[in-house]
Amino acid sequence: MNVRKSVLGIDIGGSGIKGAPVDIETGALLAERIKLDTPQPATPEAVGQVVRELVTQFSWKGPIGCTFPAIVHHGITLSAANVDKSWIGAPAQQILADAVGQPLLLLNDADAAGLAEVTFGAAKGVTGTVIVLTLGTGIGSALIVDGRLVPNTEFGHLQFKGGVAEKYCSAKIKDEMGLKWKEYSLRLNEYLNHVELLFSPDLIIIGGGISRKHEKFLPELKLRSPVLPAALRNDAGIVGAALAVVHAGMC
Ligand code: BGC
Repeated sequence: MNVRKSVLGIDIGGSGIKGAPVDIETGALLAERIKLDTPQPATPEAVGQVVRELVTQFSWKGPIGCTFPAIVHHGITLSAANVDKSWIGAPAQQILADAVGQPLLLLNDADAAGLAEVTFGAAKGVTGTVIVLTLGTGIGSALIVDGRLVPNTEFGHLQFKGGVAEKYCSAKIKDEMGLKWKEYSLRLNEYLNHVELLFSPDLIIIGGGISRKHEKFLPELKLRSPVLPAALRNDAGIVGAALAVVHAGMC
């Protein structure tokens, strides 16, 4: 019998925690995804309870991959730009694994999106340097060199225009400042020029919720590198989290 390998992928965000079992050969979701509200305040304990609830709803037994919107270094969360500050320095991977009582791997959300794009999406088969940027509440980044992820790059926190870049051109800043697409494209172009100057990427991929409307701003960009919208959209985090479990040899 041909047994399909599946891993439960979970994507922790500021407003929602979503998940689904993923077929790791194809990247397909094997069940409709479930989305639960992120508890407020999103303390490690409260988030652990919601992640457990999600795992219970799928009656999941087996390895789990999970994303987090911060630096995740060997299971420890080292930053908390857009989440509860109590995560800084917390043994987040262990806390969540204990909450669900099963093996769980934690990684940065944009790194998960990068893994998904390089395996099944817009960066598949691309050699050289690929940068995936997720534009949302903050800016997440994944750096992929010849198909291999260099984790925790945090290009959204590059110093730019007197502050961190994500405070200049995240999707949230567009909304908060009421920027028109043209104005927003100009800001994004400036930032991407800076990223290009530093890394000379062979391809830039733009993800995050705003990439659904890529035709409104990607054609406006004037860059040396080709720019593509992310292919996996909303599921990139879930799929990438599941892939990370495979890469870590946990299944
Ligand atoms: C965080 C990153 C995260 C990104 C997207 C940033 O503020 O520092 O770790 O990937 O937001 O959620």
